[in-house]
Amino acid sequence: MIGVFDSGLGGLSVLAAIARALPRADLVYLADTAHVPYGDKDDAFIRGRVLAIAGHLLERGCTLIVVACNTATAAAIAAFREACPGVPVVGVEPGIKPAAAASPARHIAVLATESTARSERLARLVRLHADGVRVDIAPCPGWATRVETLHLDGPEFIAEARRRIEPLLAAGADRIVLGCTHYAFLAPVLRPIVAGRAELVDVADAVARQCLRLAGPAAHGNGHLTLLATARPERLQAALPALGLHALLPRIATPAAPCAC
Ligand code: DGL
Repeated sequence: MIGVFDSGLGGLSVLAAIARALPRADLVYLADTAHVPYGDKDDAFIRGRVLAIAGHLLERGCTLIVVACNTATAAAIAAFREACPGVPVVGVEPGIKPAAAASPARHIAVLATESTARSERLARLVRLHADGVRVDIAPCPGWATRVETLHLDGPEFIAEARRRIEPLLAAGADRIVLGCTHYAFLAPVLRPIVAGRAELVDVADAVARQCLRLAGPAAHGNGHLTLLATARPERLQAALPALGLHALLPRIATPAAPCAC
């Protein structure tokens, strides 16, 4: 069984890619909706949540843990590896490497939560993979919450997204990295804004390929999906069609359940 978690709905974008890559794997998705968003919380709080959730997923029998959240990966994956040595874990980090490699202008930009934007882990990724490439980092407060409330478009958000992205494009960025798993669900608004000038970069498929490499026997189950949430689990299941994730519905064997981790 593969355990996938996020602060809320954002990690479903990664879950969908994992489900496509591993059609027979049994998957558990845990949304920490009692504590969403993570992006405005401090590192110690996020670390506490990651250790509690991952511990719960391991107790349920998961043999591979996917931290489907850039914010939690930046703040806590090192602490998780230290606490649970030997447990296979896959994190999600902004696609600095593919974006830098594909940027003819040698200029990329990253949209991220406030926590990820100021993280040492992102700074290290930039040092490692974007040598000689200009990297602009744009925190986007409130965007993850917008996805949680399923306010995925509308004139007011389109205007806000333009205000955030236009200066990056005007400065010459030609790759815009989606540095938060929630933002994949905002792509229908973001894509027309960047069209003809830049491309969006999302790493969900790369994360799924890494899961395929590490899954071992967990790849061969019944293809079931269990949904858990620390608050309002029914909203998690109801969100799937609204997020365009109809393909996940047939994998759900039992209704989404509360989880007190
Ligand atoms: N989806 C998460 C990420 O990738 C966290 C968003 C939030 O809870 O602020 O960063």
